[in-house]
Amino acid sequence: MKKYKTIQRLSAVLIIVAAVITITSINGCAPSKAVAAKTGVQLWSENCQRCHNTPSPSTFSPEMWETVGMHMQTRALLTEDERKKIVEFLKSSR
Ligand code: HEC
Repeated sequence: MKKYKTIQRLSAVLIIVAAVITITSINGCAPSKAVAAKTGVQLWSENCQRCHNTPSPSTFSPEMWETVGMHMQTRALLTEDERKKIVEFLKSSR
């Protein structure tokens, strides 16, 4: 009987540990605060040069930047928020 109680307690502890690990790993998938706080300039300078030269804001008109933004969002796997920040920066810095 005593043995059975120990096993019960042990499994309760295991369930709690598993729950904590699950919760922390789910949170780990959310972008960190540091990433979410990045400005359009930062995202532009860090991301676009992964594949080609970083295009200067003066290369395209504001309307064209909207289209390029959508195109490059799919290429660069940017979030909606990241695309908006980058496009805002490109449109405002021409
Ligand atoms: C994962 C790689 C990748 C990343 C990251 C990337 N691009 Fe591109 N980009 C491409 C490729 C490939 C092309 C060539 C056109 C095509 O086939 O899509 C291109 C073309 C372009 C063009 C030419 C016009 C057009 O729409 O095709 C512009 C402007 C451009 N990228 C801007 C950007 C900006 C701004 C960023 C940063 C937010 C960026 N790119 C990030 C891969 C990338």
